[in-house]
Amino acid sequence: MVLITECAESQETRVLPLLTPKTRAKHDLSKRADNIPTFYAEMDGEELDRRIAAARATLGERLVILGHHYQRDEIIKYADYRGDSFKLAQLAAGRKAADYIVFCGVHFMAESADVLSAPHQKVILPNPAAGCSMADMANIAEVEECWDTLTELLGEDAGIIPVTYMNSAANLKAFCGRNGGVVCTSSNAPKVIDWAFKQGKRVLFFPDEHLGRNTGLRYGIREDQMTVWNPKDPMSSENAEEEIERARIILWKGYCTTHMRFNVQQIEKARAEYPDIKILVHPECRREVVDAADLFGSTEYIIQQIEHAPAGTKWGVATEINLVHRLAKEHPEQFIFCLDPIVCPCSTMYRIHPAYLAWVLEALVDGEVINQVSVDEETVHWARVALERMLALAA
Ligand code: 13P
Repeated sequence: MVLITECAESQETRVLPLLTPKTRAKHDLSKRADNIPTFYAEMDGEELDRRIAAARATLGERLVILGHHYQRDEIIKYADYRGDSFKLAQLAAGRKAADYIVFCGVHFMAESADVLSAPHQKVILPNPAAGCSMADMANIAEVEECWDTLTELLGEDAGIIPVTYMNSAANLKAFCGRNGGVVCTSSNAPKVIDWAFKQGKRVLFFPDEHLGRNTGLRYGIREDQMTVWNPKDPMSSENAEEEIERARIILWKGYCTTHMRFNVQQIEKARAEYPDIKILVHPECRREVVDAADLFGSTEYIIQQIEHAPAGTKWGVATEINLVHRLAKEHPEQFIFCLDPIVCPCSTMYRIHPAYLAWVLEALVDGEVINQVSVDEETVHWARVALERMLALAA
């Protein structure tokens, strides 16, 4: 049997062997140490392209592939939809027709997709090792310890709203759902903070200290009205109690290693070389970087700014390198570069390679679901409460 299909990259018409159930069983699918069968790991790019295109065509409407902006081009070209973490959460909530949501992103994004998807849908993360080091900087035991300390200190009716950044495990989102809190992403953090303060509450913001601080400052909260909670050494400061009592936002000590690479010297250098440059940064960067920038916002915001700028605009961008390179390629009419001269890919986002995608898609064709991300029912219930509160506030 043959299938006539289009190779997504070259748009050439090719003749491919049609995948039939259990075709893969003919091959040795024993795995390497990095959890991928050698059969796929050793395949060349062209063969992977052919297999991915054929599997997509076979699965048709039963499949939707979501790709985060940080994914490499070899993956993003297969995404039915690409977006920032907010847009992808909306898409996951809205694509009920597909049986399979293949999420090319990281674990916390796939978990959120599972929470928001319909019961018949299965969410697959092609490489289960694709995580987020910032998300790992807060766990449920630490958050509960923090919560207990705060409520003990401030009283049960202290009015604290827990806000978790999308970059967090599903059980932390569930914690927020259970305790009157919400999820935010970098595109809607100001709205979420506004929602919390309009209720006359304080905010416990985790796990990204920098997004929390940058958002709070733009909202008009002073630096001395925010304090940092270090889960590894809580209440160590001499004035910890006083600082917490005064704080309108309690910031968790967590950060993104990629965005921490950017600094003010890079911005000064770029401005000295190109006096008319525009500096555009992600809010996970440190306060001083955001203060020194012209504009800041989520990955989707960064794309929008560049897409809508007049030709000839110069941009120094502070975010992950795959996105910056793609923007430079897609907008040759603009001058775009990454502020960090040493390439800064997000090492965990980088873990999804076409070999993983081919592997999971061909398994689906064979009726086997591998690398599924599945959140338990109780967590789904409360995490959905927090995510739906966020979706109701919109971006
Ligand atoms: P966005 O919400 O801007 O897509 O960012 C997600 C992320 O993981 C940034 O490090």
